[in-house]
Amino acid sequence: MSDPAAPIDRALIAPALLDLDLEALAAEYGTPLFVYDEDELRSRCREYTAHFGDDNVAYASKAFLCRAMTRLVHEEGLHLDVATGGELHVGLQAAFPADRMILHGNNKSEDELVAALDAGVGRIVADSFDELDRLERLAAERGVVPRVLVRVTPGVEAHTHVFIETGTEESKFGFTVTEGVALAAAARVAESPVLSLAGLHSHIGSQIYVLESYRRAVEIVVGLAVEITAATGQAVEELNLGGGLGVRYLLDDPERDVAEYAKVLRGALDDACAAARITTKPRLMVEPGRSIVAQGAITLYRVGTVKEIPGGPTYVAVDGGMSDNPRPVLYGAGYEAYLPARIDEPRPLVASIAGKHCEQGDLVVADAHLPAGVAVGDLLAVPVTGAYGYSMASNYNQVPRPAVLFVREGRERVVIRRETLDDLLRLDEP
Ligand code: LLP
Repeated sequence: MSDPAAPIDRALIAPALLDLDLEALAAEYGTPLFVYDEDELRSRCREYTAHFGDDNVAYASKAFLCRAMTRLVHEEGLHLDVATGGELHVGLQAAFPADRMILHGNNKSEDELVAALDAGVGRIVADSFDELDRLERLAAERGVVPRVLVRVTPGVEAHTHVFIETGTEESKFGFTVTEGVALAAAARVAESPVLSLAGLHSHIGSQIYVLESYRRAVEIVVGLAVEITAATGQAVEELNLGGGLGVRYLLDDPERDVAEYAKVLRGALDDACAAARITTKPRLMVEPGRSIVAQGAITLYRVGTVKEIPGGPTYVAVDGGMSDNPRPVLYGAGYEAYLPARIDEPRPLVASIAGKHCEQGDLVVADAHLPAGVAVGDLLAVPVTGAYGYSMASNYNQVPRPAVLFVREGRERVVIRRETLDDLLRLDEP
């Protein structure tokens, strides 16, 4: 156990954000403010392509998406996972090549499927028999033959928060492997004149540290691939194992290790193929979101009040909260915090960093460690907020969403501007 009262571990903060004048950025762009280190994002993309091969990585855009991010991902040679028509639209608007997109969704609407087919999306991940009905009809009407990955739930536990565990039999996603359901789905795709079977997809969950769960998933999916080939005569060319690698939010969390993750997945694939005597190994693809962007950003807040309850907790209230980061409320997620002006000081004060929303549960960090004497007006930073923060932000309490900056070579640019009060009325019919 590390000493929670020690100064923040600088390794939690993306390098370019350590040398910045954050006070100046906060003064210019306001708070709350997301600040991303662009080189850090690029390094994470490169780390993945180095370990999985140049063309085998898709960025899961749900973790953080805007046009600048889409372009960055494209420049780094990644594919793009989109899970809705909205994510597809943003990707297309950033001129991301449709044939390098993968469309997900457990309940894709007809409109979303049409948009994907018309754009020429490279892979559609089939999630249900109802969807296959729709997809076959729409593809036939258009005279196109989309490439389809069949999403399967291998029935493994991912040892993560139950809300973000997706590979179990009880999951709302995909086709279960047991009882031949996934086999039937894959056979249907393989035999359809208007669909082409590209391969299988499995995503067992998110924020996963127990890599053994992936090994088990690979064994099951390769076993299924063998059955599919036996039943249809078609090879399963591609296995997409989704995303999910956990990142370090707290001092005592393990550091993400893409090399080890790649080793486990490749090893499992080699072993499973050897056991099944498969000579042409399927292509292995992954779809990371969090582990590309989480550590790339910090969120800056301004302290507005400090409430000390005699014999009770101390609240340090900031000018954001569950509207810019709902993860603590949704998943009980923990974060570290620090005062940039006092980054190397010990943090003996235990306080709850409260948001500004009208709920007692609106905490950014339930048990934060901060330097003594935190005062109104201090700038406070929460690191590792690059994933599922802005992308899940809301206008709760009519709070405008923050701006997002990308920083490179000491210079910042706005990639998403701060919402104005007038933006809050944009959809409101007078
Ligand atoms: N592929 C599929 C099909 C997914 O559903 C997801 C995440 C990913 C890839 C990327 O997983 P990642 O590498 O980011 O773990 N809002 C939650 C996380 C939800 C993840 C949903 N699916 C959170 O804030 O923890």
